[in-house]
Amino acid sequence: MMRTPLIVGNWKMHKTGKEAQEFIHALCLHIPSQKRRIFLAVPFTAIERAVQAASGPILIGAQNMHDEKQGSFTGEISARMLKAAGAQFVILGHSERRELFNESNAFINRKLHHAISQSLTPILCIGESLKERQENRTQQILNKQLEECLKAVDETLISQIIIAYEPIWAIGTGKTATPQIAQQTLHMIRSFIAYKYGKKAADELSLLYGGSIKPDNIADIMKEVDIDGVLVGGASLEIESFVRIINY
Ligand code: PGA
Repeated sequence: MMRTPLIVGNWKMHKTGKEAQEFIHALCLHIPSQKRRIFLAVPFTAIERAVQAASGPILIGAQNMHDEKQGSFTGEISARMLKAAGAQFVILGHSERRELFNESNAFINRKLHHAISQSLTPILCIGESLKERQENRTQQILNKQLEECLKAVDETLISQIIIAYEPIWAIGTGKTATPQIAQQTLHMIRSFIAYKYGKKAADELSLLYGGSIKPDNIADIMKEVDIDGVLVGGASLEIESFVRIINY
């Protein structure tokens, strides 16, 4: 089964609207000749300008959203607002949201259902801490995250979701999971999906690896059969390194 490689840049709290626009104009000059899907998760305030600047295989999305449609939630943003600004996808459950803002699997599950109802593609992030890996609890932790974050997701909805495996110990640390560790873990995730939703759904699902992806490790990571793409933080902020990653 051929799944088009997907490169997602997660800009976190970096770049203004103007900076996003300049970056994307420069990126458009380097669109690869090979087939790629390129997603940029930009700050809320940069979405509209990023959407105007993007063309070809570049899609713009957000890094988070609230689970409610609207209401008294000071400082929050709804799926409908993101959609109206032109976002096409949203990252949910990033480990920084889980750790720094105490997001639970149940909250992420509600966001996921709401994102799909608003036609925003969720990129669901899951991953274990270093301690959990050292205690041999990776599978248990990931299964729990999958069970709870995908609660009440049926066969028709699973095809609309992208799952990113981001071991917390590899994010922003310069420590990448070896291609073997990433492959083994993503294979485990695909098997979980096959068990719950059937082989066809599992075959079609795009699975990403994230954590210290750089121009010099992307090619080895992308060689693995269960890795369909990557979620890139730091190295997506500079045009030179991001272009090298896209053109791996
Ligand atoms: P990193 O971040 O590439 O800087 O490790 C990845 C992420 O947080 O998605």
